[in-house]
Amino acid sequence: MANVRACVFDAYGTLFDVHSAVRRHADKIGPESEALSQVWRTKQLEYTWVRSLMKQHADFWTCTTDALDFSLARYGLEERSDLRGLLIDAYLVLEPYPEVRKTLQRLQADGFSIAILSNGTSDMLQAAVRSADLDDLDMPLFSIEDAGIYKPDPAVYRLAVDGLGVEAGEISFQSSNAWDVAGARAFGFKTVWINRLRQPDEYGLRGAVPELLSLSELPEIIY
Ligand code: LAC
Repeated sequence: MANVRACVFDAYGTLFDVHSAVRRHADKIGPESEALSQVWRTKQLEYTWVRSLMKQHADFWTCTTDALDFSLARYGLEERSDLRGLLIDAYLVLEPYPEVRKTLQRLQADGFSIAILSNGTSDMLQAAVRSADLDDLDMPLFSIEDAGIYKPDPAVYRLAVDGLGVEAGEISFQSSNAWDVAGARAFGFKTVWINRLRQPDEYGLRGAVPELLSLSELPEIIY
């Protein structure tokens, strides 16, 4: 990939494992914990898109907690306020994927700017970065709150261009969310699909953009 000056990363699902919150408390949820976690994530994202289209923005923390409430109710756990509290707290200390720190450090040492561009609020992102032990890295955290609309609105991707002071084509954007890759690509970023879960092709990405199973091989692609 020629002319890359900055590597920008999606947060949830790409750097941080969104299912680690439920996994941490799976014993208190029971056999449906995995299904609950999937519904939580699906509804969280649905709420961002619906709110963007309705022009009724509420921040990602609200979408996340609204989606959790739906998920708990869906599995008959709406009375479990103890569980709700534990899961909400766990969302602020999500596990990073194992290769994240090493990869970010290497890219930075080799002269690339690195940054996060996420739906998350600044508070959520700061908490995630701190708990993942990434807060010593020189890594701006761009939140869609500064655009007032969610991914994949082009105004969101522009935040990274403006914040880093580089051209869109000089940014390599990494996401595990295919729809986010598609949005970033349409905006003009170079993109890499981190297809952690070996999902089938969507948005015509396969063959059109580099596809990796983790971030480990990213340096090989962008150097
Ligand atoms: C984010 C969502 C897409 O971090 O997971 O922006």
